[in-house]
Amino acid sequence: MSCNKMLYAGTFDPITNGHLDVIKRASSLSDELVIGVLENNEKTPLFSVEERIDMIGQITSGMANVKVISFSGLLAHYVNENGITAVVRGLRAAMDFDYEIKMAQLNARLYKGNVETIFLMTDPANSFISSSLIKEVFRLGGDIKGFVPDVVAEFMDMKGRV
Ligand code: COA
Repeated sequence: MSCNKMLYAGTFDPITNGHLDVIKRASSLSDELVIGVLENNEKTPLFSVEERIDMIGQITSGMANVKVISFSGLLAHYVNENGITAVVRGLRAAMDFDYEIKMAQLNARLYKGNVETIFLMTDPANSFISSSLIKEVFRLGGDIKGFVPDVVAEFMDMKGRV
C-alpha cells in the first residue's frame, strides 16, 4: 500500500483516554496520523485551540508518526488539500453509528480522491467517556483520574472548577 496518511479530527475539549486509545491504535495502522483539532465549532470550548494542541502534543510526544494541527471549515477541504488517505473515527455505541454513517457518507461525496473512513471500536473501558461528561464531573467536584491523561487533569486543575 502507498503511504497512508490518516486524519483523526475532533473538538478534543479536552482529549480523553477514549480519544487516546483511538490515537494509539490508529497510529499503528498509519504511516502518519494527523490529529486535527477543530477550531470553529458550534460548541463553546473550555480550552483554547492552543491549549488543546499543547495537551495533545504533550500526550503524543512519544509517538513518532503523530502530528497535531488545527483546522477550521469543512473536514473534507482539509482532507482534499493535505493528501489525507483515510479518516479515523471512534465508535462507542450503536448511537454513535447513526450519526457517523451519515457524516461518512456525506463526506465521501465531498472527497476528491479515494478516501476511506475507518471506524475503530472504542475499548469498552472507555465507552461511557465523553468530553462534556468529564467537564461536568470535574465542575461538580468529582474525580476525573482514569478518564483523562494526567496532563489534562493538570490543565483542568489550572482552569479551576468554574
Ligand atoms: N472516546 C471518548 N469520547 C469520544 C470518542 C471516543 N472514542 N469519540 C467521540 N467522543 C466524544 C467526544 O469527546 C465528544 O464529546 P462531547 O460532545 O461531550 O464534547 C463527542 O463524543 C463527539 O465527538 P466527535 O464525534 O469526535 O465530534 P466532535 O464534535 O469532537 O468533532 C468533527 C466532529 C470535527 C469530525 C466534525 O464536527 C467535523 O468534521 N466538523 C468540521 C465541519 C464539517 O466538515 N462538517 C460537515 C460534516 S459531514
